[in-house]
Amino acid sequence: MEKIIFDVDTGHDDAIAIAMAAGLKDEIEVLGLIATNGNVSLDRTLENTLNVAEAVGLECPVFYGSDKPLLRDRVAAGDFHGKSGLDGVTFGPRKKQECKGNGILWAINSVLNNPGEITFVSVGPYTDLAICIKAHPDFAKSLKRIVVMGGSMGRGNATDSAEFNIWGDPEAAEIVFNSGVEVVAMPLDVTLKVVLDEKILEQIRCEKESEYKKLLLSQLTFYIKANLENNNSMPHMHDPCTIAYLAKPSIFKFERRNVHVETKSQLTYGRTVTSEIDDNAKVLLGVDVDLNEFWNVFFKSFRNLK
Ligand code: BDR
Ligand code: CA
Repeated sequence: MEKIIFDVDTGHDDAIAIAMAAGLKDEIEVLGLIATNGNVSLDRTLENTLNVAEAVGLECPVFYGSDKPLLRDRVAAGDFHGKSGLDGVTFGPRKKQECKGNGILWAINSVLNNPGEITFVSVGPYTDLAICIKAHPDFAKSLKRIVVMGGSMGRGNATDSAEFNIWGDPEAAEIVFNSGVEVVAMPLDVTLKVVLDEKILEQIRCEKESEYKKLLLSQLTFYIKANLENNNSMPHMHDPCTIAYLAKPSIFKFERRNVHVETKSQLTYGRTVTSEIDDNAKVLLGVDVDLNEFWNVFFKSFRNLK
């Protein structure tokens, strides 16, 4: 059983990842969710996280995290996720409320009190995780490991050089990739291979009716349109790769490399610079995925959701 702290900037693929984690009850225990600034501002990612958590029956606490990156100005990904961050979905009245107090402090205490047991999963800019690492000297070494979505060994998607989660807080990403803890990263090199195409969409439509099916399909109506308009492609399952990995690590192939993040150059700000393959490096970069297995994990989770 993987015990995770899940840090999210809830847009559409984050929402799918949260639902996937909720459905994989035998494999993953979500100890808590932390909403962070990223795809949209913190007030919206928090609202979206609370709505999704309630809709998929996650009873864990939901906290707020950082409302801005460590040093740079805020950036957003509204083109892909809409003004609310989760356009296309209307949620009913909600009972779930955020926990009072900052999620960063809660995460630090949880990890220090359970050394070696908790995986920190970050699928937005890594600001909260970087603050945890810098705030307490024992935090990083008390983690089981770190799993993130972000980076690219080739081109970026936010700029020519930078992937969005790294672009959102390059200084934080440099801290996370070099904390001394093992980082499992899902860069664009692998996440761009996981496309929710027409065939998968049809498979979802053929599944038995459920509240989650309705939610997912309404969410996808907007997300598919936004991806076709802005990217000329069906949506990529960036953030869900982290959850699929935790449920079944063997479906991904990795290369072990050192990663640094460009934080000085105007032209390539946020670029992930990778070393040669190196057995002693601390970062495992996803490079390939068994797509059949990925979708098996996805549908297994989907069928567990009401
Ligand atoms: C990342 O950017 C965000 O828009 C997605 O949620 C994902 O975390 C992909 O580059
Ligand atoms: Ca995200």
